[in-house]
Amino acid sequence: MKNLLSMEHLTKEEILHIIARAAAFEKGEAAQLNRTYNVANLFFEPSTRTKTSFEMAERRVGCEVIPFDAGFSSALKGETMYDTVKTLEMIGIDAVIIRAKEDEYYNELLEGIECAVINAGDGAGQHPSQCLLDLYTIYKEFGHFEGLNITIVGDITHSRVAKSNANALTRLGANVRFLCPAEWAGDFEAAHSWEDVLEDSDVIMLLRIQHERHAVSKNFSKDGYHEEFGLTAAREKRMKQGAIIMHPAPINRDVEIADELVECERSRIFSQVRNGVFARMAILETILKERA
Ligand code: NCD
Repeated sequence: MKNLLSMEHLTKEEILHIIARAAAFEKGEAAQLNRTYNVANLFFEPSTRTKTSFEMAERRVGCEVIPFDAGFSSALKGETMYDTVKTLEMIGIDAVIIRAKEDEYYNELLEGIECAVINAGDGAGQHPSQCLLDLYTIYKEFGHFEGLNITIVGDITHSRVAKSNANALTRLGANVRFLCPAEWAGDFEAAHSWEDVLEDSDVIMLLRIQHERHAVSKNFSKDGYHEEFGLTAAREKRMKQGAIIMHPAPINRDVEIADELVECERSRIFSQVRNGVFARMAILETILKERA
C-alpha cells in the first residue's frame, strides 16, 4: 500500500490486515519499522480528533512529526496542493496526512509525488482512516461483519464517513441500510422512518449534519430533526439487545443523539476515538513499511 486515499482501493485482505495490526497495537506490540520516518499533517479543514489522533499514532510508531500549519502556509498565497506536497517531499517528508475541502484533491498528487499520501478526509468524498477505526470498533464488538445490520443515519449524501463505511462494510458482508430525509439520500436507497430499522439494527451509526457542505441550507429546526431522525432516549430503549451506537463525532447533542445517550452503555462514541489511535498506527505502519 503506497497511499491511503479511498476505501474503494483497499482489498478485503488489506482491511483485515489493518484491523489485526490495530488489535496488536492495542495489546502493546511495537511497530515494525526499520527507521524514523518524517511525516507532516496538512489539515485545511477544522479537526480535533483526526489530527490529534494521527499525531499520537505517528509518535507511537516512532515518526518524527514536522509541524505544518495549513492556516499559515503558502496555500494562502495561491500555492497548489501539488507544489506544497512536492516542497515538503524535497525537505525530506516521507508521508503527508491531508484533509481538504475539495473532493478527490489527491488526484493532482498521483503523478510526480513520491512521498506517501494519507487522506484524512476529502470534502464529501472519503474518510478512510475514520472508516478503518469504525471497522475496528465493530470487529472488537462482534468479531465479524457478515450479516450484521448496520444502519447509517443522517446526512448521507454529504458525509465522507457514510460513503467510506457503506463501501467497506458491504464488501465485508454486512447489511448496510440508510435512514435519512429524502433529499439527503443521494444515490443510496434509504428508509425515511425509524420504524423500518430501529429494532433489528446491530449498529446504529449517527452522522452530524454537514452544514458546511450544503449549497442551500435545509430548513430543519434542531428540535424537528431530533424528533424525526435523532436517536432519542425512547428509541434507544427499543434497540436490539447487544446493539451499539456509533458516531464519528463531533456530536451535536440533542440533534442527532439525545444528550443522555452520548455515554450510555450502548454508546461506543468515545471508544471509537480511542480505537482511532490504534487504527492509525496500523495505517502508518502498513504504508511506511513499504518505503526504503
Ligand atoms: C468527521 C469528518 O470530519 O468527516 N469527523 C471526524 O473526522 N471524526 C465527521 C464530521 O465532521 O461530521
